[in-house]
Amino acid sequence: MSLQIGDIAPDFKAATTRGPIQFHDWLGSNWGVLFSHPKDFTPVCTTELGYTEKLRPEFEKRGVQVIGLSIDAVGDHERWADDIEATQGKRPQFPIIGDADRTVANLYGMLHPKADTTFTVRSVFIIDPAKKIRATITYPASTGRNFDEILRVIDSLQLTDNHKVATPVNWTPGQDVIIVPSLSNDDARKLFPNGWNEQRPYLRVTKQPA
Ligand code: BEZ
Repeated sequence: MSLQIGDIAPDFKAATTRGPIQFHDWLGSNWGVLFSHPKDFTPVCTTELGYTEKLRPEFEKRGVQVIGLSIDAVGDHERWADDIEATQGKRPQFPIIGDADRTVANLYGMLHPKADTTFTVRSVFIIDPAKKIRATITYPASTGRNFDEILRVIDSLQLTDNHKVATPVNWTPGQDVIIVPSLSNDDARKLFPNGWNEQRPYLRVTKQPA
């Protein structure tokens, strides 16, 4: 069965462009994003890894460590980094796992044989400080992911972990949020003293808590 939200992210040992890691030790008490790409020296992957490096300060601000993976060897990742730097203006400083024997790809279900018999699909696992998988995203090889969306999901998770709110369609940080339906109006008045717009009893819109 595939990994699901709420599962503990499986631990593993791997070689990476930043040296060998034990995944759980490497995560420490941080959030993590583990993502696979199909193959080194391919065009869409080149743009994804360059953009991820551009976003690295944003991930760091949120306490998130990012790690990539493909079933190529670490030496290939290192040679490919030259191309990423030359074409995307950024050289990945985050670790990229060399998973030539597919240990991690199999552990995380990143190989979808009906899509491609050889290469990993574009999988994303967002992992919280308790090592729990909090979100998964899967894209086909032909479609580059939106890494701003990954940041947006992390913003929503970190906000909703700390407040009794959920984030509505297309929410971005700073926009109004929804009071969770499980909270009674009496309890909501204590937590949201500035009130809310009650569009339906189950749809109470309020300012994003600080
Ligand atoms: C790419 O990253 O461009 C790519 C990789 C595998 C298949 C198709 C596209």
